[in-house]
Amino acid sequence: MKYFIVTYGCQMNVHESEKIAAILEDLGYIEGKTREEADIIVFNTCAIREGAEDRLLGNVGNLKKLKKRNKNLIIAVCGCMTQKAQTAKKLMDTFPFIDIVLGTFNLPQLGEFIKKVRNGRQLEILQEGDIDEFLPYKRTSGDNAWVNIMQGCNNFCTYCIVPYVKGREKSRKEENILNEIKSIIAEKKYKKITLLGQNVNSYGKDLEPPVTFSKLLKDICELDGDFVLSFMTSHPKDLTDDVIDIIAQEDKIEKYIHLPAQSGNDRILQLMNRKYTREKYLSIIEKIREKIPNCRITSDFIVGFPSETENEFQDTYSLVEKVRFDSIFAFMYSPREGTAASKMDGQISEDVKHERVNKLLLLEKRIQEEDNKR
Ligand code: 5AD
Ligand code: SF4
Repeated sequence: MKYFIVTYGCQMNVHESEKIAAILEDLGYIEGKTREEADIIVFNTCAIREGAEDRLLGNVGNLKKLKKRNKNLIIAVCGCMTQKAQTAKKLMDTFPFIDIVLGTFNLPQLGEFIKKVRNGRQLEILQEGDIDEFLPYKRTSGDNAWVNIMQGCNNFCTYCIVPYVKGREKSRKEENILNEIKSIIAEKKYKKITLLGQNVNSYGKDLEPPVTFSKLLKDICELDGDFVLSFMTSHPKDLTDDVIDIIAQEDKIEKYIHLPAQSGNDRILQLMNRKYTREKYLSIIEKIREKIPNCRITSDFIVGFPSETENEFQDTYSLVEKVRFDSIFAFMYSPREGTAASKMDGQISEDVKHERVNKLLLLEKRIQEEDNKR
């Protein structure tokens, strides 16, 4: 019996798929090379932008033929997209050949649902769940080992669906993270350890007693062993000096920070509920460059946020020009149902969004070419 997993979206999902693989192997499945030879196909979905959802729908639609050929094929859909009750129901109604739809908090029970599927189609969406501390992973990312340190997000940036589909911030206990990393080091297969969380800088605030992110970094660096430590994602409002200092001091920590700015304009940043200004963002960049020479800095931007004027977009453009990031991801704003921004006046046309995203990407290309020459 073979499995095939299709993963959409961010690194956290890539890591969740390693969990799915472990669950399937525990049931006796082995990894298949293609969808055609699989006895179970699991789609681990992403809901961050409409494009990711559309790709999933196209891909699932194509499976009807496979299901006809192999009556026993099990098709399961999980991840951020299915956490929205309406979407989950729509998936079940539109695609009668989908067998299992699970919300994000139900993932640890995937095995049980697979066993139950003989009795009929399964749909379950829990509204909240504890962070799972000990589920095994089948690590599949070469010499990099992902380590989840927290899940969820409390920030409610007005464009973002994440707080709705991943729930509130929950940190893993520090001891459990350290033990997982010790066993990763002991395996001697991994050169790099990457800590994952939507907002790693608020790690540990919900623990009793609280633990700071910089303490976690320091304690990990004190573990014996040769490894490079990295982490993502940081929020500019929470990236504290002690974290910058520890990156500067510790040889084991990679000199790299992904620091999404989203916009370079104060009015738009406020509408986005990002809780920092352009000036504050630039001062953090300055501090990083001063304390950590040659630190790689990357960022995310959203263009065409509701009511963004051409001049306000120019502020984003000039921020990118000023900071000269090592690379950026630029996204066209995509309204997500249920978020505050999707209800705002002044939604921007797709043409204008395209124009702005292209301008930003061209600028980044020019900067990279200049830096490469140098
Ligand atoms: N539309 C476009 N981009 C988005 N992002 C998050 N939500 C949206 C949205 N609704 C982007 C942000 C974030 C990255 C992971 O995805 O830039 O940092
Ligand atoms: Fe979304 Fe903002 Fe949380 Fe990042 S910090 S996951 S953009 S709500």
